[in-house]
Amino acid sequence: MEKKELLYEGKAKKLYTTTNEDELIAEFKDDLTAFNAEKKGSEQGKGALNCKISTELFALLEESGLKTHLVKTLDDNHQLVKKVDIILIEVVVRNTATGSLSKRLGIEDGKVLPFTLVEFYLKDDDLNDPIIIDDHCIILELVKDRAILDILRQKGLHVNRILKEFFEKRDLNLIDFKVEFGIDKNGEILLSDEISPDSCRFWDMQSGESLDKDRFRQNIGNVKVAYEEVLKRILGDAK
Ligand code: TMP
Ligand code: ASP
Repeated sequence: MEKKELLYEGKAKKLYTTTNEDELIAEFKDDLTAFNAEKKGSEQGKGALNCKISTELFALLEESGLKTHLVKTLDDNHQLVKKVDIILIEVVVRNTATGSLSKRLGIEDGKVLPFTLVEFYLKDDDLNDPIIIDDHCIILELVKDRAILDILRQKGLHVNRILKEFFEKRDLNLIDFKVEFGIDKNGEILLSDEISPDSCRFWDMQSGESLDKDRFRQNIGNVKVAYEEVLKRILGDAK
């Protein structure tokens, strides 16, 4: 399968049309951005690491019964994916308070939440991805009815159930993550975009060290080394 035209360029990926109108090619870029692209950088090989990590995690989720857009991985940094209409809601799932949750509500950084929290953010860079409630989703016509919002919450929790346990067995604490969903030509809701250290927070269970994009956001350094470590643990044996 070959790339035809560039359809869309985001901060971390490019999407190309293919000869099959129902499928696109996603190219994972080496670019890193944070704070709505106020901070920009690049790490050679980051795209390939995220492509590999996301491929492994999407395969694991498919095995658990969750439908995803991934058709197959083509090479180091390209995936063939089903064409979907992306739902413009970023579904954020949190096990432990940190990041914007701690900042906005003053919850102690690192506090384990009494239950898994699912939040919706509007996928709109111009508005800086604000947090939204169900009524906003309906008013903005992001989904056709409220039942879809419940489905998104359930799917977000499904991803969390599978990945939290998977990473626990690999000495990584899944703190929080963001996922996106799309609707395919049959009206099916598919997990889309990617799941990688760009879109998740992982804390090492022994040291508490961040092994994710917070290393870039907070100028901790060794970003690529951390992503490589996440991949190594994914591919390694479980405890
Ligand atoms: P937050 O604490 O900054 O709201 O981030 C929550 C989770 O969502 C964290 O794992 C990082 C991820 N995330 C993205 O993938 N994209 C984004 O644009 C933002 C703001 C967060
Ligand atoms: N993804 C957002 C950006 O690229 C924010 C973040 O992940 O921190 O700016």
